[in-house]
Amino acid sequence: MSQSGLSPGDPSSYSRPDEVKVTNVHLKLVVDFEKTRLLGHVELAVEKVKPNVKHLVLDSKDLKIFKIFDKATEQLLDYNIADPVHTFGSKLTVTLPRTTDSKLVIQINYETSSEASALQWLTPAQTLGKERPYLFSQCQAIHCRSIVPCQDTPSVKSPYSAEITAPEGLVVLMSAVRVGDPVPSKNEGVAVHKFEQKIPVPTYLIAVAVGALESREIGPRSRVWSEKEYVEKAAYEFAETEVMLKTAEDVCGPYVWGIYDLLVLPPSFPYGGMENPCLTFVTPTLLAGDRSLADVVVHEITHSWTGNLVTNKNFEHFWINEGFTMFVERKILGKMHGENYRHFMAIGGLKDLKDAIDARGKDNPTTCLVPDLRGVDPDDAFSVCPYEKGHTLLFHLETILGGAGVFDDFLKSYIDHFKYKSIGTDDFRDYLNGYFLGNKNLEKFDWDTWLRSPGMPPVIPSYDTALADACTRLAARWSAWDEGEPAPFEASDLRDLNAQQVREFLAVLLQGAPLSAGKVQAMDRVYGMGERKNAEIRFRWLRLALKSRWKKLVSEALDFVAQQGRMKYVRPIYRDLYAWDETKEKAIKHFKTHRHNMMHVAAHVVSQDLKLGT
Ligand code: BES
Ligand code: ZN
Repeated sequence: MSQSGLSPGDPSSYSRPDEVKVTNVHLKLVVDFEKTRLLGHVELAVEKVKPNVKHLVLDSKDLKIFKIFDKATEQLLDYNIADPVHTFGSKLTVTLPRTTDSKLVIQINYETSSEASALQWLTPAQTLGKERPYLFSQCQAIHCRSIVPCQDTPSVKSPYSAEITAPEGLVVLMSAVRVGDPVPSKNEGVAVHKFEQKIPVPTYLIAVAVGALESREIGPRSRVWSEKEYVEKAAYEFAETEVMLKTAEDVCGPYVWGIYDLLVLPPSFPYGGMENPCLTFVTPTLLAGDRSLADVVVHEITHSWTGNLVTNKNFEHFWINEGFTMFVERKILGKMHGENYRHFMAIGGLKDLKDAIDARGKDNPTTCLVPDLRGVDPDDAFSVCPYEKGHTLLFHLETILGGAGVFDDFLKSYIDHFKYKSIGTDDFRDYLNGYFLGNKNLEKFDWDTWLRSPGMPPVIPSYDTALADACTRLAARWSAWDEGEPAPFEASDLRDLNAQQVREFLAVLLQGAPLSAGKVQAMDRVYGMGERKNAEIRFRWLRLALKSRWKKLVSEALDFVAQQGRMKYVRPIYRDLYAWDETKEKAIKHFKTHRHNMMHVAAHVVSQDLKLGT
């Protein structure tokens, strides 16, 4: 983004909430599957911060604006749409009416582009049911501007409401509470669905899904939604949701959002989960059949406090969302399954961090806990660094500031103090310093290295290895095995390991020198590794096979990245295939054939990974 266009508080936005601020968003949109567009208007209630402000500056991306007017007087307003700057879209400058009123409602009539980066439109053929189309959104980090002109910065929070007109028979869901039943509209074949999110939220939490959806109740405040083919499986998989919510409330305080529903999306959903308020979005790759991947739900539930109540003020401070969420997620898991499970998960996370830093290079500025995002696409900067470096920082602070007893109280107090606000790293640090005033360990704390240095964290906590030891030992035996000798392994090696431990076993092997293809084949014979359905295991297994240069598994790896679009899996597999001379061209060809099934963000980053440009 050009420096002159920058918002002073957010390098990823043009908006100027320091001059005039959006205080409410009301959407009235028609879902047009034929033209793959949303068509209608938004009413932005705004409040002047500077009394003489002349312009309202908004973010927009690929939107076609028809007209902008003052809702009270219907006076048409001048506006200017600047040339788009790659991922950031176009600065939209609206000339405010000459009035001394400090509050206004500005209506913008517009339509989205069929290329809107926040939306994926699926034809009936691309769905499970094959009969009805499907639409879903993914706004985080900065894609909301492709659905609605707005102050697309998480430093601004506002309530929102919506009236969505969609073809009759389709279910519409939003990150909000439904108001009444859908009303068939006078124009035949459509119905109007109303929603309200009364709690102020940043724009990246606005979400919509439209499809032939069904639901099952899974708890007193929860239903799971999906196409009917998934719904039973999903109800089983996520049956522990209420226990998770209750445990989260113990740690964080009351759940303020009323309902907590889950939506299982089509396989192209690019993330594991997305914490849309009232309605977490999850990938169908969580449907392992044995609840072994439901930890992701704990993560998204945790965002109901860290992220959705206490929000990063821009995406340079993303760790305020994700690092805190990893930390609290593992606290909750510790309460549910024992403290050593918390440590075990942290050990796994540290491995993911090391992998990410190795892949990016230890001097890469995006590996800093608080990176500089000026001119950087947040999707390109995205990695596990804010997640796991942030977790490590908080775990280390807990250790040096008196342990869990003391730190749990701090955590509750921090959430209570900053709820409904958007904050940066300094706000956290100042609050921590105030809370632990006079603590000698904090006075000499090396903030600069933790926050601003690339590479691994300066201190690695000594985690309890009780649950990891069996994984490390088994991995060491496989590495040490001399293939001239008979294989000293049997199926019962895995008997006492749960799915998370099998995943950890593979993660340890992946970090070591590549195993020979012979060893990986032997492992498949003894353990039936190729049969495992758990996606985390399958992902690591395929990577291990590719690293060993086992050719037979190349087509399975290609199938895996075609069948689902979760970037966490798709990117490393494509990168592995690209790094192997024999499969490089195959990977590129495969991506070109399948990219039309991927969501924009996934296609964008994979295309860069495969050095194809955008
Ligand atoms: N908020 C993130 C997903 C996200 C991040 C979307 C950045 C867009 C931009 C979500 O809470 C998340 O972290 N999901 C993880 C799962 C989690 C268990 C670490 C994922 O998708 O893998
Ligand atoms: Zn998260």
